[in-house]
Amino acid sequence: MIDFSPKQKIVWQNTVKSFHRWNISYGATRSGKTYIDYFKIPYRIRSASKDGLIVLIGNTAGTIERNILDPLRGIWSDALVGYPSNSGKIRLFGRDCYCLGAEKSSQVSKLQGSGIVYCYGDEITTWSRDVFEMLKSRLDKKGACFDGTCNPDNPNHWVNKFLNSKADIFQMQFTIDDNPFLDPVFVSSLKKEYSGTVYYDRYISGLWRAAEGIIYRIFADNPSDFIINQPPPDITFCTAGLDFGGNRSAHALNLTGFTKGLKQIVTLDEWYSPQPLDPLMLEKAVCDFLERNLKLYRITDLYCDSAEQVLIRGIKTAAASRKIPVNIHNAKKGHVNERIRFYSRLFGLKKYFILSHCVNTINAFSEAVWEDSVCTDKRLDNGSCNIDSLDAQEYSTEFIMNSVIV
Ligand SMILES: Nc1ncnc2c1ncn2[C@@H]1O[C@H](COP(=O)(O)OP(=O)(O)OP(=O)(O)O)[C@@H](O)[C@H]1O
Ligand SMILES: [Mg+2]
Repeated sequence: MIDFSPKQKIVWQNTVKSFHRWNISYGATRSGKTYIDYFKIPYRIRSASKDGLIVLIGNTAGTIERNILDPLRGIWSDALVGYPSNSGKIRLFGRDCYCLGAEKSSQVSKLQGSGIVYCYGDEITTWSRDVFEMLKSRLDKKGACFDGTCNPDNPNHWVNKFLNSKADIFQMQFTIDDNPFLDPVFVSSLKKEYSGTVYYDRYISGLWRAAEGIIYRIFADNPSDFIINQPPPDITFCTAGLDFGGNRSAHALNLTGFTKGLKQIVTLDEWYSPQPLDPLMLEKAVCDFLERNLKLYRITDLYCDSAEQVLIRGIKTAAASRKIPVNIHNAKKGHVNERIRFYSRLFGLKKYFILSHCVNTINAFSEAVWEDSVCTDKRLDNGSCNIDSLDAQEYSTEFIMNSVIV
């Protein structure tokens, strides 16, 4: 039986029963903003005028698939919900439509020159603004409309500015408690994970909030909860992350251990060198660090800042000649804000610990602050705090970011 939450019913009433050109639901994660659209999208497509394009825009092709197309297929079957071709063309509910990733402004050219009759927008705050501006000028047909969702961001974000503009918008804010279909245990653990961070306001309360002040507040306020003197007895494997120093930055190398079932993540050792080093000294320091720790732990991988391919090649050769059995490769270097959110949640979950002798890492997590007066979240990186140990730490755990936290 299909049932809607009270908020979803209000949205249906105001966006389907009455017409607005822009229909935007924003707010908490998992709050039910998107679910109702799995029913609205077929309705919109079936009732759209034949004159004009239908487009689905998301952050990337992959996120459109995961957030929209896959759940749509689950409800309506793949007879009605096709698969996008390489060019983004897709058959939806008997009509040819187009999917577009909007992360890069180069995608704008795909919208140029086309009149759009219906657009569905996923994760609007992650789009390049150019794509949205182009969309505004293309959504020109009579009766043309837009449905979309996002999580809130900084109040100065262009999406929030648009929501406060005079455009014909129906907007609805969702908090996590607006979704009665969620497991209460899940909701209370998510609240705990995000407590004390800007993410609580945005992803739990659904508010537009600037990221200000200390980033890892839970750690900064209660360091003794996270600093341990002995490694846990059940470390099953370790990885290392290496950030190369530059003009104003230091070399930083962190060793991270994982306990059984990834229950705990622990910084076990660090090496930190603010001095400039020649490549041979660097290779020696890295190999010495790995060899020393291989006596204690199983180390599978070393992830290195991919900006320095020549240095990485040198370290690989040096490690091979010293028969160090560790895979050395490029760090993934995903979006830094995702890595920050990951560690914020690890602290909230009490899953991440640091051995007490790793003072540079401890100081780096305590000192990290958000940059002031910017429109987007940015970790301060002006040489006044140690970002290098944070980068090194993050490189060592990027590969498990999606498996530790939902
Ligand atoms: N009316 C409903 N009936 C059954 N399940 C629902 C309903 N509304 C939402 N859900 C379920 O709740 C979960 C979260 O809903 P939804 O995906 O719409 O959240 P969201 O606000 O879009 O989250 P996010 O910000 O993470 O994209 C999903 O698993 C969804 O299937
Ligand atoms: Mg959603």
